[in-house]
Amino acid sequence: MSAITISAIKADVGGFVGHSAIHPELAAEATRQVTLAIEHGLLVDGTVNACGDDVNLVMTHRHGVDAEPIHRFAWDTFVELTRVAKRLHLYGAGQDLLADAFSGNVRGAGPGVAEVEILERPSEPFIVFAADKTSPGAWNLPLYEMFCDPFNTAGLVIDAHMHDGFTLEVHDLIDHRRAFFSCPEDIYDLLAYIGTTGRFVIKHVFRRDNLDEPVAVTSTSRLSLIAGRYVGKDDPIMIVRCQSGLPAVGEALEPFARPHYVSGWMRGSHNGPLMPCALDDAHPSRFDGPPRVVAMGFQLADGRLVGPRDMLGDVSFDRARRQALEMADHMRRNGPFEPGRLPMEDMEYTTMPEVAERVHDRWEPVAEPATAQAPAAGALAGGAAFQAPAAGARD
Ligand code: 13P
Ligand code: 13P
Ligand code: MG
Ligand code: MG
Repeated sequence: MSAITISAIKADVGGFVGHSAIHPELAAEATRQVTLAIEHGLLVDGTVNACGDDVNLVMTHRHGVDAEPIHRFAWDTFVELTRVAKRLHLYGAGQDLLADAFSGNVRGAGPGVAEVEILERPSEPFIVFAADKTSPGAWNLPLYEMFCDPFNTAGLVIDAHMHDGFTLEVHDLIDHRRAFFSCPEDIYDLLAYIGTTGRFVIKHVFRRDNLDEPVAVTSTSRLSLIAGRYVGKDDPIMIVRCQSGLPAVGEALEPFARPHYVSGWMRGSHNGPLMPCALDDAHPSRFDGPPRVVAMGFQLADGRLVGPRDMLGDVSFDRARRQALEMADHMRRNGPFEPGRLPMEDMEYTTMPEVAERVHDRWEPVAEPATAQAPAAGALAGGAAFQAPAAGARD
């Protein structure tokens, strides 16, 4: 059995209307490009979907991870879609295409990428999750629950093939380093990092006895860290393989039955609940949200994609949707106050530094009592507080 690669690559190439959805012409053009790529033999198979204003391509092929022809195809497709978006004056046309031209790989150029090369099992169920109005750290909590928490995943206890646990690879997006945590024995160390969702993100999950073939993979790009300014958010995507020694499909979906708070709502600057929803409902509108997640279920058949099935559209997630809407009400009550609005460190990557610059001159020193500790430099004055934190500052 030859290896097959699943590539899920997404980009925001322009919103219809505002940042709420994609235009049908974008989906049609993307589908046309994918169909041509299948006909030309570049792809084994491919499908086009969207979550909010982000188009995603789920593709299978024989070129492996990080393959230039596949990344070039995705880039060229997004450039083509940007042309359509510009013709329709869609909002933020070409938003995620940060590079001027393709340079061999779309990673670091704007689009989000999750890829895995596998030996297809006799039955290969997997789920591609896509989210809008949030960031890659949004997957930390659900991935932890799927692969490390027996209260979520019964198989960790009662399936002999899962009982040894999994190894999680965590990336530090600020200091560009990574670490592996073998669970269950490392879960406290793991949680000490992945709770800081803006910086530490789970990149891969492996079976403990096979660190070559991931069983889950996420996109980890942070556009603002690439561009050095606010350029929209890093609405993430991830692939989770299921069954036969891995979480059952229902165990992979279960974390989304209990919505958690994620960052990235309204202007990338607010916290909100991650609302599970059907593909047809993935059109954030209230306060540009709330943030939402869709799940596309597939079976592989000799590399062909049988699917997607709309996994979170099921009625069993209706209560989670209602609960998320209540959580949204609670957060909205705070308006521009934390924790509705993101904390200061995260605002450094938004348009906030420009605002701080405008009022910078208004701030003047105040005499301090001799015994008082010096305040944090630049707090709210538009100075140091809005510069990128020193490497390692938040370890
Ligand atoms: P099946 O027996 O239908 O394969 O289900 C296995 C299972 O327990 C999934 O949760
Ligand atoms: P997107 O990152 O989905 O384009 O959203 C931008 C935003 O912040 C809308 O409020
Ligand atoms: Mg957008
Ligand atoms: Mg988006």
